[in-house]
Amino acid sequence: MDAIACLKTRRSVRLYKKDNVSRDIIEDIVDCGRLAASAINIQPWVFVAVDDAELRQRLADTTDHGKFIADAPWCVAVFCRSVKYYLEDGSAATQNILNAARAHGLGSCWVAGDKKPYAARIGELLGVPPDHRLVSLIAIGHTTEVPSPEKLQLRDVLRWNRY
Ligand SMILES: Cc1cc2nc3c(=O)[nH]c(=O)nc-3n(C[C@H](O)[C@H](O)[C@H](O)COP(=O)(O)O)c2cc1C
Repeated sequence: MDAIACLKTRRSVRLYKKDNVSRDIIEDIVDCGRLAASAINIQPWVFVAVDDAELRQRLADTTDHGKFIADAPWCVAVFCRSVKYYLEDGSAATQNILNAARAHGLGSCWVAGDKKPYAARIGELLGVPPDHRLVSLIAIGHTTEVPSPEKLQLRDVLRWNRY
């Protein structure tokens, strides 16, 4: 898929088919997260890819708006060491992962991590050292859903030279 078409057609998917997605594909998707922009190139991230069904159920139950994590075949948890720009770096990696999933013809959804009261509990469930912060959980899988959330128009958000 053309990169611009990929970026313009990515949408958050919350209905997943049971069909498996291979480790090779998830590895390629996470590799795109690894290559995201990072302040001072610190790359503070670590990605935990979870396909274990029981663990995904526990992750899903721990979130408030991520119950579909139990249905998708994979959940990638993005953690960052607690450096100054951890949230920007982790968010850049997260968005790369969403776009890469789309490029592989898969649906995905960013489930909130940072600022959520359950963030530390997710880290414990996945055995992540406590100095790491959860940025996001990303459900990934096949879907037939074609969501169309309302989007602001370009003319409403783009200004040239001055506000
Ligand atoms: C920081 C952040 C946290 C989000 N958390 C959740 C979440 O917990 N559950 C969920 O279903 N969607 C979550 N989303 C997805 C947004 O709801 C979604 O991106 C938004 O509605 C726009 O739709 P789109 O992604 O299809 O363009 C989150 C997105 C961001 C950027």
